[in-house]
Amino acid sequence: MIDLRSDTVTKPNEEMKQAMFSAELGDDVFEEDPTVVELENRLANMFGMDAGLFCPSGTMTNQIALNIHLDPGDEVICSRESHIYNYEGGGIAKNSGASVRLIEGETGLITSQDVANNINPDDVHYPISKLVALENTCNRGGGICYSMGEMKSIAEVCMKNNLPLHLDGARIFNAIVKNNENPLEYGEVFNSISICLSKGLGAPLGSVLIGDQQFIKKSRRVRKVFGGGMRQVGVVAAAGNYALENNIERLKNDHLHAKMIAQALRKCSWINSILPVETNIVVGYLNEDRDNNEFVELLAKKNIKIIPFGKGRIRMVTHLEINKQTAEKVVEELNF
Ligand SMILES: Cc1ncc(COP(=O)(O)O)c(C=O)c1O
Repeated sequence: MIDLRSDTVTKPNEEMKQAMFSAELGDDVFEEDPTVVELENRLANMFGMDAGLFCPSGTMTNQIALNIHLDPGDEVICSRESHIYNYEGGGIAKNSGASVRLIEGETGLITSQDVANNINPDDVHYPISKLVALENTCNRGGGICYSMGEMKSIAEVCMKNNLPLHLDGARIFNAIVKNNENPLEYGEVFNSISICLSKGLGAPLGSVLIGDQQFIKKSRRVRKVFGGGMRQVGVVAAAGNYALENNIERLKNDHLHAKMIAQALRKCSWINSILPVETNIVVGYLNEDRDNNEFVELLAKKNIKIIPFGKGRIRMVTHLEINKQTAEKVVEELNF
């Protein structure tokens, strides 16, 4: 089976397992696991932030950040397509009692003008605008990236209005590699960043939240309350360290393979259009008379696993277990 459902399906290779096996460990709730500390500091330094916090998932790192930035009744400005709104189980409301101001647009990218237009006036009728949250790359937008210029303009609007800016950087390294960016610039733009190790980087689990000293101190407390305080968890942080050392540059291959697949998908008779492909995600819209579940089943018969992605939409994601030959096989099979 060729599995294009997500870049989360990869399994650790032997070298990554060896790194996990030989990791130095300690009790991380006591902040005594050297491998976790190494991972947290490595990412904080890379992005020019003070500190990091290792968590089990990207949902948890996002939800901790939202919980710190927002009080009940406050409002976060984000895209209607964002992961924090669509796929975190209503956590914004459930965990933080906060409201959302959703910006429309199928790519999931929002602009500085959108932000400026959606900040509520200081009036008792409205929720208090308290946070702006971006996602880079945008998952539902087909892995599209922000330009550094746009992120900086958004940060300016935030600064003027005293709003912190959070980034869901589940696939931040895909954007960095695609646009040849300096991670330090992200540290200047954002107040908090959630970074996933379990997507394109290929670790079995783990995300790191980075921010300033005080923010990470508060995050540690919220992580404990959310049940995310872990003990000898260097055993998985070691996979994260391995991934950062070995799997960043190779993301370029995933982007290349996604482009190959996108070209074939565009020609497929079932497909009406596809979103622009910038990184490792391909989102296709089916012709109106076609059903996305049938498309998924048809590909399953050809030994290709994909997922439906909302009405009339399908998604394919490339990752480190998809090599050039596999991508070519997918291209061949899309010839109908
Ligand atoms: C953009 C984005 N943010 C956050 C997450 C959440 O990550 P996790 O599955 O580790 O909770 C995902 C997961 O796919 C994602 O795509």
